[in-house]
This record gives sequence, structure tokens and C-alpha cells, in this order.
Amino acid sequence: SDAIDIKKGLAGVYADTTKISKVMEETNSLTYRGYPVQELAALCKFEEVAYLIWHGELPMREQLMHFERQEREHRWIGDDLIEVMRKFRKTAHPMDTLRTAVSFLGVQDPETEDNSPKANLEKSIKMMARIPTIVAADYRLRNGKEPIKPDPKLGFAENFFHMCFGEVPAPEVVKCFDVSLTLYAEHSFNASTFTSRVIASTTSDIYSAVVGGIGALKGPLHGGANEAVMHMMLEVDDPKKAEAWLLGNIADKRLVMGFGHRVYKHGDSRVPTMKKAFLEMAKIKNGQKWVEMYEILERTMLAKKNIHPNLDFPTGPAYYLMGFDIPMFTPIFVMSRITGWTAHVMEQNEDNKLIRPLAAYDGSAQRKVLPVAER
Ligand code: CMC
Repeated sequence: SDAIDIKKGLAGVYADTTKISKVMEETNSLTYRGYPVQELAALCKFEEVAYLIWHGELPMREQLMHFERQEREHRWIGDDLIEVMRKFRKTAHPMDTLRTAVSFLGVQDPETEDNSPKANLEKSIKMMARIPTIVAADYRLRNGKEPIKPDPKLGFAENFFHMCFGEVPAPEVVKCFDVSLTLYAEHSFNASTFTSRVIASTTSDIYSAVVGGIGALKGPLHGGANEAVMHMMLEVDDPKKAEAWLLGNIADKRLVMGFGHRVYKHGDSRVPTMKKAFLEMAKIKNGQKWVEMYEILERTMLAKKNIHPNLDFPTGPAYYLMGFDIPMFTPIFVMSRITGWTAHVMEQNEDNKLIRPLAAYDGSAQRKVLPVAER
């Protein structure tokens, strides 16, 4: 295998083309279907972004109304799934319960095996509509409370707060949450999206591809980082301890969660927009302590390691200030990334080739099998 050039972690490898999003490391920028994410976050709600990711164009007013009606209609998950969820171990991680619940949706949907673009788009909208209901119902059941039914009069982000807490917060809070959904929606061939595409490439079904995506996103090197960031901040506890804590971590060669990125080496395109939303949340919720800690950790990490924060660094404390349980942070990421994953599955299906790379063998040399009595 000496002569073989191995791209460990597939770093730097172009595995296919995509029309969905473009990550530009040179300029720290990201576009969905050609539109800069910071402009989408400022001017559109998440429903418009979801439509854009799937259809390639921003919706006209009537198209948006139709799309929103569809999303609102499909929110309820049915009593059968609620009954299944009641049996989940109360301390199971919400990413595991969500993975199982989405798998159950696939079991119950008579269209699961229909891989036509039309059927897959419908299933994608249904998953977008139902995943928040699962996440909120799971949160309530875990805490000994009854699930709250979705309210079709509320927008996507508002309805999620309603199903979690029984009330909708101030519009500024809803907007910060909505901005995070827009920023999490899509990011080219990241690990979970690539997982979904690998599954789609076998011509398996879209639910299987999403379930695989959820499994990949759970890990703290990927989506699980937003939870890990908040655990880390709670461990630091006091901004005065932040610098010493970080220097200790660096000395021990421990990873600092929410920093670094495989593609962005000079800053994550999404961070400035999300940092602004986090600062807004801190102002509303009196979270100055977390802002101070954020600034110290960011500054020290840059000075000592020249490593920038990634999107999970501001979303962690922002979700905490919104009142969400830490184990819900990565499931919230799923509520958004479901759009990117399913768009990629449909794109893979359009021009499919089985994804099947090679491995350079470096195990034992070939040898003879001996029967058990002679070994
Ligand atoms: N803390 C400390 N050192 C780091 C970190 C970090 N967060 N990130 C990178 N480094 C170091 C790394 O140890 C390596 O050092 P050396 O050259 O001495 O071995 C150097 O920086 C280069 O990093 P790398 O390991 O080659 O980078 P990678 O592309 O393989 O890893 C990463 C990217 C995201 C897995 C990594 O930066 C990491 O583990 N970060 C922490 C987890 C995290 O925040 N993940 C979220 C990723 S972005 C959003 C998302 O997917 O949700």
C-alpha cells in the first residue's frame, strides 16, 4: 500500500458535484442555491429557506402559502408513535429516540418504497413537519409531561416553542431560533449528508438515508458539538476561569468543542450571523456571563492555536438561553438539516452511481487456515 495515496478522512476529496450549496473557504462564505446565508438569515424565514433548498428557487408569495399549508397539515405524528415513544427509556439520548422515531415513520409510510422525485419530496416535507413534533413530545415525555399538539396557526419556529413549553416567546427570540435553523440547513458534503448520500446511492429509501444521517450527526465531532459546547461552558462556569481552563485544555491536548473545521481554516461562514443572534439572546435573557466567556475562549483559542470557532460555538449558549435542555440541541440541528439531507438524497437519485471506495489492505499476509484442533 506504500504507493497508494490515501486520503484519510476523505480530506480534500471531491466525491461528486452538487447544485445545492457552495462552501467557499477562501472567502469564509456559504451560499444555498447561489444566495448568501447571511442574507437568507436576515430576510427569509426558515420555511422559505427549506423551499429554496428543495426547489432551487425562493418561493413566490402563493408558492410559500401553499408550502406552509402543507407543512402545517403534516405536523401531527399520530397516537401510535406517541405510544411507542412512551416506552422509550427516559434517560436515552434524544438523538437515539429521534432516530428510532424517524425510522418508525418509515415503517408506517406506505410510500416508503416509492423513490420517485414527487414521492420523495412529499416524504421530505412530512419529515420536516413531523421531526419538531417528535423532538418536543420526547422532551415532554422525558420530563413526565404530556405532549402538546402542534398548532397549525403558528409558523414553524413558533410552533416548536409552543409544543415544548406551551407558549411562544417574544418575536426577537423566535427570530434568533429561526436564524439558527437557516444556518444549520445545509452544508455540502459534511459527514451526515455524505452518509445520507451513501445510503441513497444503493437505491435504498429516503427514511433510511435520514436515519443514517441522524446517526452520523449525533457524534460530538459533528452535530453533537453544540451540546458539548454548552457542557464545556457549564464546566468552566465563570468567565474569570475561562482563560486558565482553556490553557489547561490545550496543554493536555484535549479538543475544545465548537472550534475548528475540516473545510474552514480561517473562520466559519455562519459564525458572524449566529454570534449576532447569540448576543441578542444574551441581551434579552440577561446572559452577559456567557458572552464574556465566549469572547475569552474565542480570543485565547485564536491567540494560542489560531483556530476559529464553528457554528456550534454560538448556537450552544444561544439554545441554552432560549430555555432548551442541552440534549435537545442536536435534535434541533436535525429539524433544520433534514432539508439539506433530503435535497442531497434527491440529487443523488437524479444521477446515481453507487458510492463504493477502496481500502488499501495492510493486515496479515495471506496464510493457511488450520482446523480448530490443529491451531
Ligand atoms: N481543539 C483543539 N485542537 C484542535 C481543534 C479543537 N477543537 N480542532 C482542531 N485542532 C487541532 C488538531 O488537533 C490538529 O492539531 P495537530 O496538527 O497538532 O495534530 C490541528 O488543529 C488540525 O486539525 P485536524 O484534526 O487536522 O482537523 P480535522 O479537519 O481533522 O478536524 C474537526 C475538524 C471539526 C473534527 C475538529 O476541528 C474538531 O474535533 N473540533 C471539535 C469538535 C467540533 O466543534 N465539531 C463541530 C464541527 S463544525 C459544525 C458541525 O459539524 O456541527
